[in-house]
Amino acid sequence: ASDSVSVSQFPTLTRYVMAKTHDNELAILLMALQLACKATSRACNKAGIAMLFGLAGEVNSTGDDQKKLDVLSNEIFIDALTNCGACSILVSEENEEPIFVPQDKAGRFVVAFDPLDGSSNIDCNVSTGTIFAVYEKTSDKYGAATELVITFKGHGVHRFTLDPSLGEFVHIQAHIKMPEGGGKKIYSCNEGNSRNWDAAIKSIVAKWKDSDKPYAARYVGSMVSDVHRTILYGGIYLYPADAKSAQGKLRVLYEGFPMAFIMEQAGGSASCGLFKGKLQRLLDIVPTSIHEKCPVVIGCNRDVEAVLNEYKALG
Ligand code: AHG
Ligand code: MN
Ligand code: MN
Ligand code: MN
Repeated sequence: ASDSVSVSQFPTLTRYVMAKTHDNELAILLMALQLACKATSRACNKAGIAMLFGLAGEVNSTGDDQKKLDVLSNEIFIDALTNCGACSILVSEENEEPIFVPQDKAGRFVVAFDPLDGSSNIDCNVSTGTIFAVYEKTSDKYGAATELVITFKGHGVHRFTLDPSLGEFVHIQAHIKMPEGGGKKIYSCNEGNSRNWDAAIKSIVAKWKDSDKPYAARYVGSMVSDVHRTILYGGIYLYPADAKSAQGKLRVLYEGFPMAFIMEQAGGSASCGLFKGKLQRLLDIVPTSIHEKCPVVIGCNRDVEAVLNEYKALG
C-alpha cells in the first residue's frame, strides 16, 4: 500500500492499441485477443494442479494429436472472439472448418489462430505460445487469403510482457530489429528429418556445422519460442519441405504468415526456399484452403540468403 509508483502511465498493451488506432472495432478485437491470451496463460500455468496435462483423445485436421490444453485454449479463443462483436470468421488449427460468427455478433475482421503452438512441449513444462493473424474482411464471400488484408502494417514489431501482478501486458520493447549483421550463428530445425531433406538444405546445414566457427544448434520444438529467440539473438529457423512432406509441416494462415510478417517487420527475411519449382517469399504464397502448409525458412538476411544461394547453386 505504501508503493508510490504511479500506474497511470504504465505502457500497457491496452494503452498502446488505443494510441495506434482510432478504429474502435479493431481496438475491441485486440482487447478480446488480449483477454484470450491471458486466459490461456492462466490455463497453462495451472495445468499441473488442474490435471490439464495429456491428450484429449482426438486428432485435428492436420493430423496432430490434440492435447487437453489445445482444446481448452481453442475454446477460450473461440469464446472471446465470437462474442466480441468484431469478427465474422475464425480459422483455427483445431477446427477443420472455418467458424462463422452469427450475424448479430459479426464484425469486420477475420482471425486465423494457432491457440497453442508447441503443444508437444506442454507435459514437460517447456515453453509454448499462441500465434494469431488479423485480416480485414474485404468481401462477404469467404475466399482465399489474397482477399484478406493484414492490419497494423508498418508499425514495426513491439514486445509486451504480461505482468501477472497487474494482469496487464506491458510494453517493454519498441520497434524490435534483428541483431545487426545477422546476430548469433544459430540454426534451428528438426534435424531428425535430415535424411528426407533436399540437397540444398542438407548442404547448407552441413556447411554451418563444418565452418571454422561452427553454428550452434538450438531447437525447442515450439515455433513461437524458436522464432522468438531467432528475432532476439539472430540466426535462422527452418521447417523445410522434405521427401515425406512436400509442403513441410507448418500451416500458412496461422503459423507461416504471422511469423513471416513479424520477421520481415523486424528486418529479417521469410522464405519458403525452393517451393513448387521456384524460390518464393513466404508472404507471396496464395493458399487455397485454410489448413494448407508451406515450407518455412525464416531469420536473419545473412542465413536466409545463404539458403537461397544454395538452392541457386544446387537446385
Ligand atoms: P502445434 O503445436 O501448434 O501443432 O505446432 C507444432 C509445430 C511448431 O510449433 C514446431 O516448430 C513444430 O511443429 C515442431 O515439429 P517437430 O516436432 O516435427 O519438430
Ligand atoms: Mn497441433
Ligand atoms: Mn503451431
Ligand atoms: Mn497449435
